[in-house]
Amino acid sequence: MVKAVAVLAGTDVKGTIFFSQEGDGPTTVTGSISGLKPGLHGFHVHALGDTTNGCMSTGPHFNPVGKEHGAPEDEDRHAGDLGNVTAGEDGVVNVNITDSQVSDTHFLQLAL
Ligand SMILES: *[C@@H]1O[C@H](CO)[C@@H](O)[C@H](O)[C@H]1NC(C)=O
Ligand SMILES: *[C@@H]1O[C@H](CO)[C@@H](O)[C@H](O)[C@H]1NC(C)=O
Ligand SMILES: [Zn+2]
Repeated sequence: MVKAVAVLAGTDVKGTIFFSQEGDGPTTVTGSISGLKPGLHGFHVHALGDTTNGCMSTGPHFNPVGKEHGAPEDEDRHAGDLGNVTAGEDGVVNVNITDSQVSDTHFLQLAL
């Protein structure tokens, strides 16, 4: 079992996202984020872990094999494309995604 964690520590938006993968199986992405506006939010892994300038410094979506941007169910998509998450009226999202393209070999390059 390989595990990684991404801690989100913005001014308003905070959360912790856990990644785990068993062998060559799919990766499970769980955790929660608070402080969001209610509704849909794109949820992507970016190429760089540098959040000093917000989204600007995190680089493009994580895309190790040169594919097009897409939805999580597409074969042709960035490995970091995890679709949308929906925040409730309280601004909280509980994440529980199972994905087979975002994998453990890339964990050290994560930023959300
Ligand atoms: C995510 O939301 C955007 C904007 O509403 C929409 O265009 C897109 O199709 C949604 N993607 C998925 C995977 O649901
Ligand atoms: C995620 O969903 C799966 C399948 O519905 C469930 O078995 C699992 O307990 C959930 N994990 C969390 C952390 O909510
Ligand atoms: Zn993308």
